[in-house]
Amino acid sequence: MINLRVNGTTRAVDADPAMPLLWALRDLLGMTGTKYGCGIGACGACTVHLNGQAVRSCITAIGDVGDQQVTTIEGLSPEGTHPLQRAWIANNVPQCGYCQVGQIMQAAALLQTTPKPTDQQITDAMSGNICRCGTYQRIRTAIKQAAELGA
Ligand code: FES
Ligand code: FES
Repeated sequence: MINLRVNGTTRAVDADPAMPLLWALRDLLGMTGTKYGCGIGACGACTVHLNGQAVRSCITAIGDVGDQQVTTIEGLSPEGTHPLQRAWIANNVPQCGYCQVGQIMQAAALLQTTPKPTDQQITDAMSGNICRCGTYQRIRTAIKQAAELGA
């Protein structure tokens, strides 16, 4: 058994330590908000936080998580009212939606360390999160709006 601290709760999973965190979240713990895109750390769809830092859960083994706090989109805010989520809705950011959870989690990690990011800081932080639908401009607008709201 491996204990994972997920969204403030300790959850025990019976799995190989090499299992990607993404599989444990989705298949063992039923948290399907986090998405599988590439499986090789190249798209950002699977982004979650470990102790507040954005990581790719598809290439993070559960055996390496230890007692770090895992935060998924389900735990970003109790009611889904994090400033980024409100700004995302206000700007109708998603198109197909598939990449959007990863985008929000990446942006949330940025705003935790950089509450008022510049355009360049947004570009740098978000460059590893791919959107096939090309919603990049709305993502940028929503991040700026969330920064104003005080993410
Ligand atoms: S699914 Fe993890 S980075 Fe693409
Ligand atoms: S909204 Fe479709 S991949 Fe980003």
